Order: sequence, then structure tokens, then C-alpha cells
Amino acid sequence: MKTLDWETVRLFLHVLAATVWVGGQITLAALVPALRGTAEGVTKAAAQAFNRIAWPAFGVLVLTGIWNVFALGDQGAAFEHTLTLKYVLVVISGVTAYAHQRATSTARLAVYGALTGASALAALFVGVWLAQ
Ligand code: HEM
Repeated sequence: MKTLDWETVRLFLHVLAATVWVGGQITLAALVPALRGTAEGVTKAAAQAFNRIAWPAFGVLVLTGIWNVFALGDQGAAFEHTLTLKYVLVVISGVTAYAHQRATSTARLAVYGALTGASALAALFVGVWLAQ
């Protein structure tokens, strides 16, 4: 068996949180059209239930992300540039998710929803790119 160390735990927690934040948004986007109209307030209830696990997952992503950065130490300029791109995508993902949650019009709901989904997917891609 390969050695089991803190790097395994660190990446496991980071990837687990990413599956909730990114995978959860994709799953919710697939479920909402099917739920819409089945009962009063059902899509809002589903979104609120997702938020209860999504934001803790986002918190774990940030904390384990910082742990990743310290664990890896100096990886050179190219890595730093890629990491900076990731920081920007993570901030966009978090801010637009919050704006989506607070949106009062259908248009804002759709635009912020699309932005948070796209930036979350991009952060996932850049994360794998960083780990190579
Ligand atoms: C939406 C938020 C985020 C997503 C979806 C995400 C996703 C990922 C994924 C999938 C990996 C690859 C893991 C692997 O292949 O083993 C990764 C690696 C990494 N992430 Fe994130 N991440 C997020 C936020 C952050 C934040 C906020 C930071 C820094 C504060 C960060 C820093 C890193 C670093 C440094 C690596 C490379 C880890 C290594 O090679 O050991 N991530 N991320």
C-alpha cells in the first residue's frame, strides 16, 4: 500500500469540498427545472437546503486551499500566476453565488447563477492544472 500522509488528507478534503460546491451547483441546476411548478416554493426550499451544505463546503475549500499553498511552499513564478488566476475565479464564484442567493429579479438570478457556475467550473479546472 502507498503511504497515507497529511497530503492525502489535505487533498481529499479539498476535492470533497469541490465536489459539493461545483457538483452541487450542477446537480441543482438539473433538478430545478423538474421541481419548478410541482409545489409552491419547492425550488426555493431546494436552493436553501443546498446552501446549508454549499457555504460550509466553500469554507472548507478556502481553508484547505490555504493549507495547500503553505504545504507546497514556493513553486516558482508560473505556479504563482496560475494560483492568482485561481484566487480571482474563487472570489468571483463566491461573490456571484452570494449575489445569486440575494437576487430579487429573474434576470439577476439567471445571470449570477450562470456566473457562479462557470467560475466554479473554471476554478476546478485551474485546481487540477495546479496539481499537475
Ligand atoms: C471554488 C473553489 C475551489 C475549487 C473548486 C478548487 C478545486 C481544486 C481541485 C479539484 C484541485 C486538484 C486537486 C488534485 O488534483 O489533487 C485543487 C488544487 C489546489 N487548490 Fe483548489 N479549489 C478551490 C479553491 C481554492 C483556494 C481558495 C485555494 C487557495 C487559497 C486553492 C489552492 C489550491 C492549490 C494550491 C492546489 C494544488 C494542490 C496540490 O497540488 O497539492 N484552491 N483545487
